[in-house]
Amino acid sequence: CDCHDKTVLFFGCHLLAFINAPVSESNSSVRSIYIISNDWELFFTGEPCSMVVTWTTFSKTESKVEYSLLGGRLFEMTAKGDATLFVDSGKEKRRMYIHRVTLTGLKPAAAYAYHCGSDDGWSDVFSFTALNNNTSFSPRFALYGDLGNENPQSLARLQKETQLGMYDVILHIGDFAYDMHEDNARIGDEFMRQIQSIAAYVPYMTCPGNHESTYNFSNYRNRFSMPGQTESLWYSWNLGSAHIISLSTEVYFYLEFGQELLFKQYNWLKKDLEEANKPENRAVRPWIITMGHRPMYCSDDDQDDCTKFDSYVTPGLEDLFYNYGVDLELWAHEHTYERLWPVYGDMVYNGSKEQPYVNPKAPIHIITGSAGCREKTDRFNPNPKEWSAFRSTDYGYTRMQVVNTTHVYLEQVSDDQYGKVIDSIWVVKEKHGFSAWF
Ligand SMILES: *[C@@H]1O[C@H](CO)[C@@H](O)[C@H](O)[C@H]1NC(C)=O
Ligand SMILES: *[C@@H]1O[C@H](CO)[C@@H](O)[C@H](O)[C@H]1NC(C)=O
Ligand SMILES: *[C@@H]1O[C@H](CO)[C@@H](O)[C@H](O)[C@H]1NC(C)=O
Ligand SMILES: *[C@@H]1O[C@H](CO)[C@@H](O)[C@H](O)[C@H]1NC(C)=O
Ligand SMILES: *[C@@H]1O[C@H](CO)[C@@H](O)[C@H](O)[C@H]1NC(C)=O
Ligand SMILES: [Fe+2]
Repeated sequence: CDCHDKTVLFFGCHLLAFINAPVSESNSSVRSIYIISNDWELFFTGEPCSMVVTWTTFSKTESKVEYSLLGGRLFEMTAKGDATLFVDSGKEKRRMYIHRVTLTGLKPAAAYAYHCGSDDGWSDVFSFTALNNNTSFSPRFALYGDLGNENPQSLARLQKETQLGMYDVILHIGDFAYDMHEDNARIGDEFMRQIQSIAAYVPYMTCPGNHESTYNFSNYRNRFSMPGQTESLWYSWNLGSAHIISLSTEVYFYLEFGQELLFKQYNWLKKDLEEANKPENRAVRPWIITMGHRPMYCSDDDQDDCTKFDSYVTPGLEDLFYNYGVDLELWAHEHTYERLWPVYGDMVYNGSKEQPYVNPKAPIHIITGSAGCREKTDRFNPNPKEWSAFRSTDYGYTRMQVVNTTHVYLEQVSDDQYGKVIDSIWVVKEKHGFSAWF
């Protein structure tokens, strides 16, 4: 008998995406969002604040989220969505249904209780805070890459800090699970269960890494639900005074999956950066922050792309980001933490010798890929170039707060040292954009 069809095996409830007027695709006078439906078609609405809830079942069920303002009558409201069938490409061709429900018209900064599922079975009750849409809001982020199922050393600390309300958003900068497709995608299931204690409470924003590449990134593209219409490969969104761009560095390495992706992404990036640099946009969201998996620079002792002067990513993206005045570039892939002095073309451009991050003359790069995975941490080359400012091989993650239009704060947490902050900087910019470099 196929008993599984009777039991709704179930996991999830992840707030995998916040959708808020992607700059490049919105009519500037209308705040708009996209809703992702079961066949990846997009529908256009005018709602200012929404959240996508994603989960997985192994049998076909309805997709519902019941929710209410925290403290109100529980499950007062119901939202319905759709499920897509995802058939893994492994031997067993495992089938699962990925459910997506978009909650729209949320009250900014209000707390909600919710559960997800259907009349065949419900999740636990979770809560989230709808993102604040005030441009003066100072969002707090946790950033990291390279978090796996085995040896996920920073996970417990991140779970607890998320539940303590320390973060508004998580940015996972590629490399999940190690690897989601393994054991006929059961490793992917396990990873999604593992992050539920984070991702059910705050939006969990992602970009793809090399560990997602098997079967053309199909586990990544199916399991996550980022804004835009690229199956989560690249997108941008806004929060507080920041415009945040997520991109795939993997288009430079897996040309067999389509060289056109490289050009498509590049053209999209250019358009998105142009739009974000329109004076009226940059005035309210002056910070442009990018996240991508493989760094342009690093001083690890492996043979990775970033250790080479002529890496693949650098010619592809460095000039573009410099020319459009990107302020901060977040990377992972190296299982270490490294902070760089402002850098462009392999040269350091400090704001001043005493205050390198006050009005820096080039973008600032942070590499944070030491959350913990089965590959352990990497080692550093003993003789880094002069752009290397601080390095650590401790397991850990980064905290970032976009405080206001002039100030961003970053700090590095060492999990090895029980949560000690081992590095911190203030980035101060009175001017943003290309002209700020001179
Ligand atoms: C924030 O959202 C509220 C409620 O949807 C809306 O009235 C307000 O205009 C929005 N504010 C901004 C800055 O978009
Ligand atoms: C946005 O936040 C600022 C600073 O906290 C506050 O002064 C202002 O009233 C807020 N605006 C709205 C529409 O809530
Ligand atoms: C890989 O996936 C991308 C994104 O869906 C698609 O555009 C591309 O055609 C696929 N490549 C191959 C070889 O299937
Ligand atoms: C940049 O600033 C740091 C910190 O003051 C300093 O150690 C480094 O030498 C400076 N680099 C250059 C090229 O000025
Ligand atoms: C931004 O925040 C910093 C640090 O809290 C503060 O010193 C500065 O005055 C603020 N700037 C503006 C424009 O609000
Ligand atoms: Fe990686």
